[in-house]
Amino acid sequence: MFSKKSAKAVSTAILMAGATTGFAQSIPSLKDTFKNDFGIGTALNNGQIEERDPAMTQLIVSQFNMATPENVMKSALIHPKWDTYDFVVPDKLVAFGKKHNIKINGHTLVWHSQLPSFIRGIHSKDSIQTFFNDHIKTVAGRYKDNIFSWDVVNEALNEDGTLRKTVFLDYLGEGYIAEAFRLTQQAAPNVELYYNDYNNEQPAKRAGCIELIKKVQASGARIDGVGIQGHWHVGRVPFKDIEESILQYSALGLKVMFTELDIEVLPRNFQGADVSQRMASNPSLNPYTAGLPDEVQKQLAADYEALFKLFLKHKDKVTRVTLWGVNDANSWLNGWPVRGRTNYPLLFDRNNQPKPAFYSVVALKK
Ligand code: G3I
Repeated sequence: MFSKKSAKAVSTAILMAGATTGFAQSIPSLKDTFKNDFGIGTALNNGQIEERDPAMTQLIVSQFNMATPENVMKSALIHPKWDTYDFVVPDKLVAFGKKHNIKINGHTLVWHSQLPSFIRGIHSKDSIQTFFNDHIKTVAGRYKDNIFSWDVVNEALNEDGTLRKTVFLDYLGEGYIAEAFRLTQQAAPNVELYYNDYNNEQPAKRAGCIELIKKVQASGARIDGVGIQGHWHVGRVPFKDIEESILQYSALGLKVMFTELDIEVLPRNFQGADVSQRMASNPSLNPYTAGLPDEVQKQLAADYEALFKLFLKHKDKVTRVTLWGVNDANSWLNGWPVRGRTNYPLLFDRNNQPKPAFYSVVALKK
């Protein structure tokens, strides 16, 4: 039975959904604004994939034409046991994409992080090779006709451009990267194949990334694009490095994508997105719980505007810009590198309303 209180909560929720839905329809659409330039993507979590909140679904489908699963296709979740795969939510993601005409970027086949726990018990080259082959064949094969692209290998580089020490490098040697591309191409011949990393716009890491790409190309395997994740900090976006990277990667014959864009506004003492790095909690690290000060909001809008201006300048080379989350409440940056913070890195606020940064980006096309 409905209590008075829950009935009121439901009607308020419906009103809010209606209001937000109406608003979402009346604001400009990012995907329409940039339809002749590049795809506009977002990262989706379980609730969004399962359409638990109608206002959220409305916002997603009105604003974005591409989507990346934030977690559900990572190996720990999609391949939890040696011979068990869990395709329930990934299948829903693919159905969501089909229903709403949103292209899906698979993320990710080979990554040292969020690996299934059984990997820790494997200590032979043969078994790692079997896991590697079976995982790629099974996952890429399942979605070969209904996803657009794969981040085949994610974050294989150190900051100095050398190869990161991972279970794959340890057991399979550096050839594992080209082999991942070869196996994915075999399992999913019509899907675009990318290498994806953070900070790979920085000169030293970029040089390593270029070397990595050239080795994949020299092996004869196909690689279609490179993803620059784009986890940057307000007031410190490295525009010059970004532009040089677009030019240098595209000179290799690759599509360039910004695959996990967000601009963090809170303090931290290192750059990048290595999820194993953390900082101790402390109130001075969470200064904007009551709202974002105007000057930071303005700087955020200016940074987003300058970034999209650069993307537009190189729209013949940049094929997709994906924001890492739909609104500020969803962002992983509320929980990392310090738990429980109030961050503001995206274009929509916690009530699904467009922020000044949204309007400054859209205004570039007026
Ligand atoms: O699902 C469990 C839940 O059962 C448990 O109760 C809860 C307790 O902590 O954790 C939940 O898992 C969390 C998961 O997100 C789903 O919310 C993990 O702890 C948490 O570590 C995980 O974080 C994700 C992170 O990758 C992990 O590597 C972030 O959501 C996700 O945004 C982030 O995305 C990565 C890209 O894949 C690669 N590039 C960097 C980027 C940002 O780190």
